[in-house]
Amino acid sequence: MTGSIRTLISQEQIQARVAELGAQIRAEFGEEPVTLVAVLKGSFLFVADLVRAIPGEVRVEFLGVASYHGGTSSTGVVQLTLDLRHGIEDQNVILVEDIVDTGLTIDYLVRMLKVRGPRALRVATLLDKPDNREVEVELDYVGFTIPDEFVVGYGLDLGELYRNLPYVAVYAP
Ligand code: PRP
Repeated sequence: MTGSIRTLISQEQIQARVAELGAQIRAEFGEEPVTLVAVLKGSFLFVADLVRAIPGEVRVEFLGVASYHGGTSSTGVVQLTLDLRHGIEDQNVILVEDIVDTGLTIDYLVRMLKVRGPRALRVATLLDKPDNREVEVELDYVGFTIPDEFVVGYGLDLGELYRNLPYVAVYAP
């Protein structure tokens, strides 16, 4: 891959913020069990850290979607590639995303899960990029709000690469 990357959010900043989000989630739900629904692939590192930051009873489930198809801009088409293996009826569900950009993915997933009867349905995203929003979405837990730049790392990819960076970086072609 040609192009350059520069750190936008350091590993230390991410770890500190994830710890805060975990504590905030546990405080909100008291002793009740919480189900994290991670949206693959991008959220795999965020959910791995977030689940360890929430004490007590926590489930982790996975949903697969694809919307970017390897490029740097959204196609607006949300494709479900993996559904949940268990029902979420009466559970406190938190959808876990790496980034909310146009909002199309999370909007689709919230509407899809709402009809399955969760007790609560919240959205946690590591990154919020509000400049590109095409549909209004409610974000309950936001790690960082970022400018309209293409970011990679900590789960986010460009052509399936860079997901392994332990920090978030801006990619410049
Ligand atoms: C990314 C990201 C979100 C979505 C956000 O997924 O993980 O799911 O795009 O964009 P939106 O708000 O414009 O809908 P992507 O399709 O890149 O798949 P990946 O997570 O497997 O990399």
